[in-house]
Amino acid sequence: MEHLPISRPGVARLACAALLVGGLAAGLMGAFAGAGVSAETATLKPVSAFAGIADQSARSAALFQEAAKVIESPRCMNCHPANRVPTQGESRREHIPFIDATMEGHGPKGLTCHTCHQAQNVSTYSDGIGSVPGNGHWGLAPASMAWQDKTTGGICRQLKDLSRNGGRSLAKIHEHMMNDPLVGWAWEPGEGRPPAPGTQAQFGELIQAWIDNGAACPPE
Ligand code: HEC
Ligand code: HEC
Repeated sequence: MEHLPISRPGVARLACAALLVGGLAAGLMGAFAGAGVSAETATLKPVSAFAGIADQSARSAALFQEAAKVIESPRCMNCHPANRVPTQGESRREHIPFIDATMEGHGPKGLTCHTCHQAQNVSTYSDGIGSVPGNGHWGLAPASMAWQDKTTGGICRQLKDLSRNGGRSLAKIHEHMMNDPLVGWAWEPGEGRPPAPGTQAQFGELIQAWIDNGAACPPE
């Protein structure tokens, strides 16, 4: 418990609010416990697990739903927020300190992401923050690629939309999921945060099978 980031003002405020509302407190503690480093690593079902779905379009949508365990994990979502402010941790709290990433995604002049986010993760051994995450390409996803507050189907349709996905064909989307350094970071996120579910290779296989079966999207 002593590693919980409870001393940070934003979180403390949240916790107080929860105590006031009573019942919410238990839920919050649960969320904090989920942030523990030793939490069981989440897994992904293999593509073969979906072979039994006879309807190809339904099979494709189910494959995407499985891949969405990664896409909707905090490791991806924190960098694909609804507005220009990144979020942090398992609870997707607003980035501390407050950062407006600006439309370019790299933060205001003088306080760009790289002021704090180095080329690799840096362990801090401090209470609360196990490490400062890092990657040479660190930056916020463009506004058109915002995922938070969207349904799984909504994210799926947006991912296929050339006007919102950076002009990427489905093959390019697959390649990005498999090879982009920021995507890869999610499986080696540094001390203090659980990695995205499964492995990047398994994730890539699910995305490929989703495409091969017609790239259908879940209705919701
Ligand atoms: C003043 C320092 C500082 C600046 C500038 C900064 N960050 Fe951070 N950021 C941090 C620290 C420290 C953490 C780790 C916090 C934690 O894990 O509790 C963090 C965590 C994050 C996370 C959460 C990772 C995760 O999955 O939990 C994201 C996303 C993020 N930063 C994005 C950005 C982006 C994008 C920028 C630039 C627009 C930026 N940050 C600028 C200090 C900074
Ligand atoms: C540190 C921030 C960061 C993290 C973490 C991150 N992304 Fe991104 N993402 C970006 C940026 C920046 C772009 C824009 C890159 C470009 O267009 O060249 C992007 C673009 C994308 C795209 C392009 C198409 C689109 O519509 O979004 C995909 C796909 C994507 N990310 C998937 C992921 C997945 C999957 C994860 C987690 C496993 C992830 N990202 C984690 C910053 C991040």
